[in-house]
Amino acid sequence: MAEKKYVMAIDQGTTGTRVMLFTYDGLPVKGGWAYHEHRQIYPRPGWVEHDPLEIWEKTKQCIKEVLEQTKINPREIAAIGVTNQRETTIIWDPKTGKPVYNAIVWQDRRTAKEIDYLREHYFKVIQGKSGLVPDCYFSSTKIWWILDNVSGVRERAKKGELLFGTIDTWIIWNLTKGSKDVLTPERYGAHVIDYSNASRTMIFNIHKLDWDDELLEIQGKIPREILPLPRPSSDKEVYGYTGPEVQELMGGVSIPVTGDAGDQQAALFGQVGFDVGDVKCTYGTGNFILLNTGEAPVPSKHNLLTTVYYSLEPKKAVYALEGSIFITGAAIQWLRDGLKLIEVSAEINPLAESASDTGGVYFVPAFVGLGAPYWDHYARGLIIGITRGTERKHIARATLEAIAYLTRDVIEAMKADTGRDITVLKADGGAAKSDFLLQFQADILNVRVVRPVVFETTSLGVAYLAGLAVGFWKSLDEVRKNWRMEKEFIPRMDEKTRERLYKGWKAAVQRALGWAKE
Ligand code: G3P
Repeated sequence: MAEKKYVMAIDQGTTGTRVMLFTYDGLPVKGGWAYHEHRQIYPRPGWVEHDPLEIWEKTKQCIKEVLEQTKINPREIAAIGVTNQRETTIIWDPKTGKPVYNAIVWQDRRTAKEIDYLREHYFKVIQGKSGLVPDCYFSSTKIWWILDNVSGVRERAKKGELLFGTIDTWIIWNLTKGSKDVLTPERYGAHVIDYSNASRTMIFNIHKLDWDDELLEIQGKIPREILPLPRPSSDKEVYGYTGPEVQELMGGVSIPVTGDAGDQQAALFGQVGFDVGDVKCTYGTGNFILLNTGEAPVPSKHNLLTTVYYSLEPKKAVYALEGSIFITGAAIQWLRDGLKLIEVSAEINPLAESASDTGGVYFVPAFVGLGAPYWDHYARGLIIGITRGTERKHIARATLEAIAYLTRDVIEAMKADTGRDITVLKADGGAAKSDFLLQFQADILNVRVVRPVVFETTSLGVAYLAGLAVGFWKSLDEVRKNWRMEKEFIPRMDEKTRERLYKGWKAAVQRALGWAKE
């Protein structure tokens, strides 16, 4: 038997799919990564879809390229882990492998009416059981929409002819389809979801770690028959082994799929956030801040989400408080593509730094409403404080500062919910490459911000989860040693300036709230 030297991570994100190979030291293998974008489909304003078959093709293409580039023997791969854009919803026919409708993406707002209804009648029930603040963001109302709007789907779903899954479920099912060695052979592949992804569907009871009949009933009578099997994020029982389609890419070798986690949870795991109080912020299209709260879920009084962080064994989980901010890096893209203020995203840093301050300008990028802690789908973006002296550089700086202010809003809510101080923030994600942003973040939070050497914390996190299941890594302590710091940012702003700036931000947000409400 070949010695196991690597773990493969598949990170299926909102804009693209990444496949990476990691070594025991938690380092990426040279040449061991591939990335491909997929189409963003906008059928109507506020609707966002992906083609699940295209995503699966891109995933296979990435696997193929990684193996070709590294020329490693697939027998040396100990396990595969899958991490994903969360909440995005697919329903498909397991006999044909064809989706009945496109994937409805987490950013999609088509179910605002259903959410208004749920907020009015069931806010407490939903929050109590699922840990979530009712919002279009989560999977349940997307499932409800497909059941009601795609002909024949509800009947077929009731008969058990169709499967629902988030993107992890879809990828794992495709990886394992046709293999006999899966947890759900009657469904032609492993039809599973880990607790962290399940906790983003709004039909999952995070206390019982199981689907919840009442939540299913009140959200469009979703039939249980379509639901995947909830499993730990690191599964010693193995979700399934790769089937013939994937074996073909791997010289006939079949590999166990043993890790599954939502991308934001995986990122905290990749940052080795194993202690209660550990907190990370991923600076991507949006910002996602997660705080490890330990083995008991902490209910939020300040509009954060209580969510499953990860699980290493059945019916047990570690929980997190999460603040999801929908638009952060996307605001930089808007400066580039919408306003044409910059040509490439990286230009924003020197431009912002060329201004010593914003000259009193604030930018609230509430393009799709505001997420945590405001949860206002009627909020809209604004730039305020403009004077005759305002230049491009001020707008650029206000954009980066907004990302830090939005993050502080969430960190303040976390402190209030837990009664604990936060002393270090671990940063990752594309925009965290900006030294200017992280320095301003440290200043505005008055907290040390640290950035790791291995930046792909999402892929690394799920590689750890998959590897732990098969004994590639033996314990969390073994994994912990792999985290290395690249740079730290120490707060250097005085208290008076910090609070003056933040007060201005809060006033600007107040003006953005409720703007689109008729
Ligand atoms: O909850 C949505 C989040 O998982 C999306 O992450 O990195 O794919 O934009 P990303």
